[in-house]
Amino acid sequence: MAANERTDGSNANPTTDSDELLVLSTVTAGYGAGLILKGVDLTVRKGEIVCLIGPNGAGKSTVLKTISGLLRPKSGSVSFRSEEIGGMSSRQRLGRGIVHVPQDRSLFPGMSVWENVVMGAFILSDQALIKSRLEQVAETFPIVANRRAAMAGSLSGGEQKQVELARSLMLDPALILLDEPSIGLDPKSRTAVFASISALADSGRSVLLVEQNARSGLAVAHRAAVLEAGLVALTGSGESLLNDPEVARLYLGASAKAPVLEKLADTA
Ligand SMILES: Nc1ncnc2c1ncn2[C@@H]1O[C@H](COP(=O)(O)OP(=O)(O)O)[C@@H](O)[C@H]1O
Ligand SMILES: [Mg+2]
Repeated sequence: MAANERTDGSNANPTTDSDELLVLSTVTAGYGAGLILKGVDLTVRKGEIVCLIGPNGAGKSTVLKTISGLLRPKSGSVSFRSEEIGGMSSRQRLGRGIVHVPQDRSLFPGMSVWENVVMGAFILSDQALIKSRLEQVAETFPIVANRRAAMAGSLSGGEQKQVELARSLMLDPALILLDEPSIGLDPKSRTAVFASISALADSGRSVLLVEQNARSGLAVAHRAAVLEAGLVALTGSGESLLNDPEVARLYLGASAKAPVLEKLADTA
């Protein structure tokens, strides 16, 4: 199964692999008495884009919440730069460089693009630092400068997503958690979002991406994992999962070609 499987829990010292940024070991979590995550093992290394796919309700968003601190794991370990963070608040985790871009629109619609992006730095007080970050972010995401005075709520869905991604950079994060960033967008905006995800991962950042649009998600990812019913069922490179017939059948919308049609094509 998983190449990066950690089953014994005793071997959780990431010095064995200095590139490991985030390591989830047998994480369980849920919202009430029952468990949604039933022992998730997942590793994200420095500079890596990891894509998490799986059916609706599998627990993908729940995985992101246990990493950003919206939810605390019931058992298991969430380790970030070799430090256990599973018991920390969201704010403490933000301070360590973990940002979460949720699935739902999260901009303040009645505030300007610029103000929304500045909000991304809300735990910083150094004005000079905020200013220089704004300049960097506007370079990566030109919409921040080009539409700076527009009310965020007046932008299209695709433009709003770009602003959300821009805002996530204000803390110069080491790890960006993206929950279905392309959902509900037109094809052109979707292409722009996937291009931006690669830009986010520049300069050594890591991205953990949850995507329904599995084909595009896997194409942009270095590694990927399939989550099914609260467990990681499969991991591999993005490319190997793209070429896995079972993954294709279940998640890539590739209606498996009926063998009889292929035969007909061969003989035509
Ligand atoms: N806030 C919540 N309270 C109770 N149950 C929830 C909550 N959020 C999600 N769930 C349940 O947890 C399960 C996994 O949800 P989620 O992590 O959102 O799945 P996915 O993102 O893979 O679609 C689902 O059965 C969902 O109904
Ligand atoms: Mg979800």
